[in-house]
Amino acid sequence: MLINQKLIWKTLLRSILYLLIGKDKLRFYETIDWQHQSDRFRRADLIYPHYYSSQNFHSIKGGYLNSVAAITYDIVAAYASPPNEAWIRKQLIAAINCQPKKILDLGCGTGSTTLLLKQAFEQSVVIGLDLSPYMLVVADYKAQLADFNIQWVHGLAEATDLEEADFDLVTISFLFHETPVEISQLILQECLRLIKPGGQLIILDGNQKRLRHAQWLIKIFNEPYSKAYAAESVDVWMRKAGFDSVKTEYVGWINQVTYGIKPPV
Ligand SMILES: C[S@@+](CC[C@H](N)C(=O)[O-])C[C@H]1O[C@@H](n2cnc3c(N)ncnc32)[C@H](O)[C@@H]1O
Repeated sequence: MLINQKLIWKTLLRSILYLLIGKDKLRFYETIDWQHQSDRFRRADLIYPHYYSSQNFHSIKGGYLNSVAAITYDIVAAYASPPNEAWIRKQLIAAINCQPKKILDLGCGTGSTTLLLKQAFEQSVVIGLDLSPYMLVVADYKAQLADFNIQWVHGLAEATDLEEADFDLVTISFLFHETPVEISQLILQECLRLIKPGGQLIILDGNQKRLRHAQWLIKIFNEPYSKAYAAESVDVWMRKAGFDSVKTEYVGWINQVTYGIKPPV
């Protein structure tokens, strides 16, 4: 009886996943050798910071250092950015005011924004960087499906080891509500180092003013640093880090896009 119940649940869950993510992705997730695939990206010398490795983001044990996070992320993200995730992400693309030759997407996750950047600027070199090798596995799979040449880097957004003043555009989507305030500020300093003079930084994330009054949302998603994020201002952080022409626009129901430029020399 117990076995039958388990079987029924497994079949039901599989049918739901089939509907939500489609046949091809489901087959990919079911057959993938996560150890082998994540080793393609894993940097052996990388030490995971405590604020990251100690948290069960979205109630997943081990957070982003668990392949379950990579499998479920896109399904959850579709409902977490109302009224429409694709439209929200396109507001980041719409804020780009240059023809970037080299683009870096920090905390790229499963690459949803990174792929949009490559689609918008086909000739550009596009790099996605993330701390989770599992998220990079899914990002790379999506890039292969789209036939996009994107470089995926396993690394820390606050200390990337990438070359100074090498990027025309750096983007960050949905990262800062998941990092402690002091880390978000370190990441902004790293962005200033990475961007060419006159280059642009664009940040898409939760609308801080609105989230301040919607603590229930923060609780639903079980995000340890969102409350502190909501109490602050990305706009203020960016000016403090040294960016010019900083502006925040509110998009959709609960999101904001903040952008600014590194002062030209
Ligand atoms: C909420 S997800 C956002 C993913 C993606 N940017 C998007 O728009 O869907 C946050 C991502 O940031 C990554 N992350 C968190 N802290 C990081 C850090 N310090 N450096 C690099 N990546 C980080 C996580 O592994 C996760 O993939």
